[in-house]
Amino acid sequence: MTKTQEETLKSITISQENNPFDFEEREKYCFVAKRKDKIVAFASMVRQEEFGANWIFRDCQVNPRYRGLGLQRKLIQARIEFAKTVFTPYLDWRHFIAFVRPKNQYSLNNLISEGFLVFQDELVKFKGAEHIQMGKTIEVCEKS
Ligand SMILES: CC(C)(COP(=O)(O)OP(=O)(O)OC[C@H]1O[C@@H](n2cnc3c(N)ncnc32)[C@H](O)[C@@H]1OP(=O)(O)O)[C@@H](O)C(=O)NCCC(=O)NCCS
Repeated sequence: MTKTQEETLKSITISQENNPFDFEEREKYCFVAKRKDKIVAFASMVRQEEFGANWIFRDCQVNPRYRGLGLQRKLIQARIEFAKTVFTPYLDWRHFIAFVRPKNQYSLNNLISEGFLVFQDELVKFKGAEHIQMGKTIEVCEKS
């Protein structure tokens, strides 16, 4: 990463925004990466008991001008940390699922780097298109 990219990355903060329910009334948690109050990347996570998961990763988008800075990976980490700290100590919400288009090498690499594994060999239909289903299970935290 160049010095300019490092400086840009330092000026970006990631936070969890309000959790509006999505159109199917599931809890949806949004994570935004902002630079000077401008959103430069976004991702969300839906709480959903389906596909053997508790959390479905959704909607990761990085503004093309801010790609290649590792923001997708940071957004993956932010979502897992949020689930760990806010939910897992109390409930057993620890299974994550992401659906990735087979050609999306960047997302596949970032998810694998964060410990996701290909969940099943066959492609699955998600939002009308073929996707690779990837999953990660985090350690059970001590219940407080
Ligand atoms: C896929 C996506 C989220 C990756 O985000 P990101 O934060 O840029 O990811 P990374 O920083 O890991 O960069 C990914 C690759 O893009 C390369 N890259 C660098 N500059 C880039 C640029 N200006 N534009 C595109 N890619 C660039 C990086 O070098 C890296 O490749 P490498 O791993 O070979 O080094 C982003 O490309 C995107 O928003 N794509 C469109 C929506 C999408 O596909 N979402 C994912 C749904 S699962």
